[in-house]
Amino acid sequence: MNVPADEGQLISMILKLVNAKRTIEIGVFTGYSLLTTALALPADGKILAMDPDREAYETGLPFIKKAGVDHKINFIHSDAFLVLNDLIENGEEAGAFDFAFVDANKEDYIKYHEILLKLVKVGGVIGYDNTLWFGAVALSEDDEMAEYLRVRRGCLRELNSFLANDPRVECCLLSVGDGLTLCRRLY
Ligand SMILES: C[S@@+](CC[C@H](N)C(=O)[O-])C[C@H]1O[C@@H](n2cnc3c(N)ncnc32)[C@H](O)[C@@H]1O
Repeated sequence: MNVPADEGQLISMILKLVNAKRTIEIGVFTGYSLLTTALALPADGKILAMDPDREAYETGLPFIKKAGVDHKINFIHSDAFLVLNDLIENGEEAGAFDFAFVDANKEDYIKYHEILLKLVKVGGVIGYDNTLWFGAVALSEDDEMAEYLRVRRGCLRELNSFLANDPRVECCLLSVGDGLTLCRRLY
């Protein structure tokens, strides 16, 4: 479930290149990409991290503490939609974030995109994980593939085409890990 090490390194590099200070993490699990992010941010950096699975987060938490970066993390044990919709409703956090990483329920990525375009600043970056879906996005319907790939293949194909045609962002799909799409907000 965790991003592979090379993808983690790339995310870390991007965070440093854009001087990210405030970030959003949707889908924490045991916190590998979260730890990578926390290590890359400056001492006063802050991550708003959300996951309905607290047990998985607590499994990884000792490692985050050992790395001395737990003070940068605001973990909210919740479905990300509830938290982010609240932020948008109170209006104070519009454009307040430099970076967001989305690695959660794939069928909702387009909905996250609409929300994140309100929260991430112009010039900020949103990263979507698993956009190659183990290569299944490039297969045709008749090709053989495992059932778990077939089930979510459609929503990732829809996402890729949606992002490629969204004038609000400049996109780049990288073949690192299982596919990482970076979107830079243009307006
Ligand atoms: C692939 S794992 C995340 C792995 C993590 N990004 C890493 O690389 O270490 C996906 C996580 O998304 C979480 N998730 C699923 N639906 C969610 C939602 N609506 N809001 C937030 N997190 C969600 C799951 O509980 C799961 O822990």
